[in-house]
Amino acid sequence: MITTKIANVIKEIGKKLNMELENINVIESNRKDLCDYQFDGTFQLAKTLHKSPLEIGQMLVEEIKKHPEYSHLFQNVEVIPPGFLNFTLSSEIINEILNEMIQNDKFGITLPKKQKIFMDYGGPNIAKPLHVGHLRSAIVGEAIKRMLKYLGHDVIADVHLGDYGLQIGEVIYGLKEKNISLEDITLQDLETIYPWMNERIKNDEIVKEQCAKITKDLQEGQEEYHAYFEKIKKISGDDILRIYKYLDVSFDLWLGESDAYPYIEPLTKELENKNLLTESEGAKVVFIAKESDKKEMPPLVYQKKNKAYLYGTTDLATIYDRIHKYHPDTFIYLTDYRQKLHFESVFRVCEKLGYTKDASFEHIGFGTVNGKDGKPFKTREGKSPKLDSLFEEVKETFKKANEKNQDMSEKDLDILVNAIIKFADLQNSPEKDYIFDITKFSNLTGKTGPYILYTYLRIESILKKESNSLKELNQEIYDSIDRELRLKIIELEKTLNYAVKMRSPAILANFLYELCVNMNAFYEKNHINNLREIEKKENWLLLFQLANKIVKEMLLLLGIYLPERM
Ligand code: ARG
Repeated sequence: MITTKIANVIKEIGKKLNMELENINVIESNRKDLCDYQFDGTFQLAKTLHKSPLEIGQMLVEEIKKHPEYSHLFQNVEVIPPGFLNFTLSSEIINEILNEMIQNDKFGITLPKKQKIFMDYGGPNIAKPLHVGHLRSAIVGEAIKRMLKYLGHDVIADVHLGDYGLQIGEVIYGLKEKNISLEDITLQDLETIYPWMNERIKNDEIVKEQCAKITKDLQEGQEEYHAYFEKIKKISGDDILRIYKYLDVSFDLWLGESDAYPYIEPLTKELENKNLLTESEGAKVVFIAKESDKKEMPPLVYQKKNKAYLYGTTDLATIYDRIHKYHPDTFIYLTDYRQKLHFESVFRVCEKLGYTKDASFEHIGFGTVNGKDGKPFKTREGKSPKLDSLFEEVKETFKKANEKNQDMSEKDLDILVNAIIKFADLQNSPEKDYIFDITKFSNLTGKTGPYILYTYLRIESILKKESNSLKELNQEIYDSIDRELRLKIIELEKTLNYAVKMRSPAILANFLYELCVNMNAFYEKNHINNLREIEKKENWLLLFQLANKIVKEMLLLLGIYLPERM
């Protein structure tokens, strides 16, 4: 990584000058007109060395210039008052890095120490229609999983269906009341019964009680309800699978809350042995407050007075199972940010159980998808959209906005729908709310999926017209736009590492957008196909081959595929 390379130079030079340099932080310049990278550590050093930052900077620069093995990396190194070190890279080093990227698998990125990571995302509830919120968990989760795998981690993904909650009791109640027999249940029934029952129990305590009773009996293994449950899970699960397939979202494990029940017993034993369960008003709870808490931390309710288990219980039992079966180093959960407290509570119980000694637990809480009015997203009919109608609306909007693309194949259109929805989402850091403006994100210009895909196809068509046998770039950089593109490309490794570290596909998505802006700017000015200077042409073609390969592979990490044409 170039920043590491520069940091190493500073470290070596520091040693020669007897300066103790730790944790050297080289950053990308925010004034690209002045330099490419900068180092501000002279201010820190000033305190210990009793010299001014400027003097320290001067000493470092002079020393670098004395050593050709370091100075060849830079076209210019200088210190700017009051003491910033500015680095401008040499063409030689830029091209050396680019050649490493060209010649190596995964662009020569150094892979981190391999970890086993357990991811829990998607999290749809059976018998309730999937909504936009679940879309986010699936899209962001899938992108994080793909990035982690790209860097060589061992990732296990579980969908963790919400399949044992009150909604099941409600739907079974509704089905029975409507005399719909087990064999006759359809997806349509489930879609209508849940909203109807949900409205009903708001005003009818007795019905609500009965639904809760059905849920509890089901959890205790009542046979008839279990048969209903299996059937509902199959029908609803198949539909969820169909949607995930459309979105290219996939899981290694297709488990749910119900699968955690066998682990409640051993977990309860463990909690009891460690004296962590307390009776409180008839319920069993785990106290998790700490003295250092700034806000109130209510206990986690493990079992209700009526003996029913709760969301926290199934999550803990699921963790019990996952730890014993897979021994992960890290757990990552993705849900709506409103579940933040839930996960904090669950993780605190894990800490009390000693699970956090061997594994770290992370919850990524994402924001809401809003409409142009700033309120939670709704389709034209004014309902919180069922996902199918959302996909259709996006497709129609794209077609309308791009009339000349009317003859695109249905398969390519589906790829575009995915690109539009995913790029709209993934360019925002997960915890932020964002506005899903379908018209804006369907556009071929601006920070959109179609823009990135269009850039790729345009460059691909240029590359296809030429044959190029060049395998290595020469030492030259031909103009400033060319240089900007090359500098952007060498940021890939740092960007991807940072995106993974922050669990933020947005960092990668924004890099991709900027890369495409550089590629387009380059192409506007330099029409490669018509060039007569053969060497320059071949070098540029090779550079574009690299850039487009990056676009393709990184898009794939975001779950975005390439259409044949558009
Ligand atoms: N089913 C939950 C919901 O719709 C999300 C599940 C998230 N995963 C978990 N292990 N709790 O809100």
